[in-house]
Amino acid sequence: MNLRFTEEQEMMRKMVQDFAEKEVQPEVEQMEGEERFPRKIVRKMGELGLMGVPIPEDYGGSGMDYTSYIIAINELSKVSATLGVILSVHTSVGTNPILYFGNDKQKNKYVPKLASGEYLGAFALTEPGAGSDAASLKTKAVKSDTDYILNGSKVFITNGGEADTYITFARTSDEPGSKGVSAFIVEKDTPGLIIGKPEKKMGLHGSSTVQLTFDNCKVPKEQLLGDEGEGFKIAMANLNVGRIGIAAQALGIGEAALDYSAAYAKEREQFGKPIAANQGIAFKLADMATEVEAAKLLVYQAAALVEQDAPSSKEASMAKMYASKTARKAAIEAVQIFGGYGYTEEYPVERLFRDAKVTEIYEGTNEIQHKVIAKSLLD
Ligand code: CAA
Repeated sequence: MNLRFTEEQEMMRKMVQDFAEKEVQPEVEQMEGEERFPRKIVRKMGELGLMGVPIPEDYGGSGMDYTSYIIAINELSKVSATLGVILSVHTSVGTNPILYFGNDKQKNKYVPKLASGEYLGAFALTEPGAGSDAASLKTKAVKSDTDYILNGSKVFITNGGEADTYITFARTSDEPGSKGVSAFIVEKDTPGLIIGKPEKKMGLHGSSTVQLTFDNCKVPKEQLLGDEGEGFKIAMANLNVGRIGIAAQALGIGEAALDYSAAYAKEREQFGKPIAANQGIAFKLADMATEVEAAKLLVYQAAALVEQDAPSSKEASMAKMYASKTARKAAIEAVQIFGGYGYTEEYPVERLFRDAKVTEIYEGTNEIQHKVIAKSLLD
């Protein structure tokens, strides 16, 4: 397969790189330090067409290929993993479920607003007792003449409190497991939707993560997404592809860790020579570079499969698992190479170290990615 970017993809890469350096980099420290959601930057991303990269032009998107979208997350995440996850969740699991499973009315009502960045999207699947075992979710949706009444709670909702729409999963029948789950588009001002306090997280401090409570939340019947009972499939289908977005975020973190480390190792002198002149440091850099390159190949291979409409869930899980592990390892090595300075907030590797960890957890832990990969090998 050809892993060289096309001219259009290369233009996207340069545009996002330029945007990230000029508009994001100067804001990162304050945004993370103050745990402030980057509204202004997200608005600018909307103006640049970044909030709807792979969404067809007919629905107000940029109409670009899936690889271009992955490039955007990858490049942004080199500078800010916070913006990487905001974009990935908004597009892969906040917008795509409506584009692929919505009826015409839903698509026309929501997709153009999401693709332009006027609306921000979120995805509400996880519950306090249903994380990896997503099919055990307990939130209930009881049908009345005109509405569904939702009761239950969701946790760890990325973009929560900032989003305009929540793709929400709830049980519409007593059928056990995945069968009785349905999906809904819940608007932020729906009566009975209560946004909880933001979580205090290890990293990604500019991104908002909240609990949601549905307290007799009255969702109009026309907000059902797909058919009743189709919810679990909608969640899985979008996570299959969405995981490549998180893999691209992890790749960006790994690349940043490598770049900072190589530059520092050449500059920092001890015992009268740059620390890079020591094999102990040079070999660390060689390992980091090899693993980052392997992660890149997996990420862009998975993206290319999506573009070709070929089966991609195994490759997406491989990319997510490997890129997240690489990001974590590269960030740990970066802190080691920076020594005492790496342990302080003065240098960005401390942030990379904190941001990397969650890529092994959200959108399916790496243990779940093992399960998906093994299942597709053995079935
Ligand atoms: N793609 C398509 N369909 C799938 C599927 C997949 N990857 N995995 C399962 N299904 C289908 C099955 O084919 C099956 O359909 P049938 O009943 O018609 O046969 C049905 O779903 C149930 O399948 P299983 O019995 O295999 O499902 P399970 O209960 O064992 O769970 C799982 C499978 C892969 C473990 C799944 O629960 C899972 O992915 N868990 C992780 C949850 C997750 O990723 N959460 C992320 C939350 S969102 C987030 O993190 C966003 C953020 O903030 C960054």
